[in-house]
Amino acid sequence: MSERLQKVIAHAGVASRRKAETLIATGHVKVNGKVVTELGTKVNVSDEVKVDEVPISKEPPVYYLLYKPRGVITAVSDDKHRKTVVDILKEVPERIYPVGRLDYDTSGLLLLTNDGDLDNKLTHPKYEVEKTYVAKVKGIVTNDDLKQLRTGVVIDHRKTAKAKTKLIRTNKESSIVSLTIHEGRNHQVKNMFERIGHPVEKLSRETYGFLDLHGLQAGEYRRLRPHEVEELKELSENVKR
Ligand code: URA
Repeated sequence: MSERLQKVIAHAGVASRRKAETLIATGHVKVNGKVVTELGTKVNVSDEVKVDEVPISKEPPVYYLLYKPRGVITAVSDDKHRKTVVDILKEVPERIYPVGRLDYDTSGLLLLTNDGDLDNKLTHPKYEVEKTYVAKVKGIVTNDDLKQLRTGVVIDHRKTAKAKTKLIRTNKESSIVSLTIHEGRNHQVKNMFERIGHPVEKLSRETYGFLDLHGLQAGEYRRLRPHEVEELKELSENVKR
């Protein structure tokens, strides 16, 4: 599989993706002995990539599960100096990055890895894994509302795929709803509830495929167990839609 040069450099732990782009543009990078300054050049594993004459080497792959707290940005670094999910895992020596994204004000399960191949597969629309969110939304959600979420609502001119729903409870002014989707569009859950007239007040991701937050508090993380990594890989190979 070929990948963009800046991504390969970033994944090798040499620099962030943005710094890798600068390294390429300023002539520090050679592919098979030739300087390449074009961003987006595709390379594959058989290509020899050197940064300042030093061949890049791949770090061993590592996999972490984080219970992301609210008020943390899902990114490796932030221009506005907000705390990032990678800051929480600062003791991890490998250059890990988040798989997909949770909004700043969303909490819950987030995977981080330096395995670009698995990241690509898990976030590719063709392979998207099932994820369950629990949302506190404004107003009383009816059976009809739930049905709309399940069958699909139109966001940006495109209907969302079939989903699963469960009404957990309601009180006078709000409802708690569990929503399981396998797509990963930007702000998808918030947009889906907005569409049916129940804006999200609080959102948390409870599961990702077979993984859940069991045993973790917000802000805590753990390494995935080898069998979980295997299962994730199988999941990303098998899910075809
Ligand atoms: N959907 C959203 O709207 N926000 C998230 O953080 C995740 C899914």
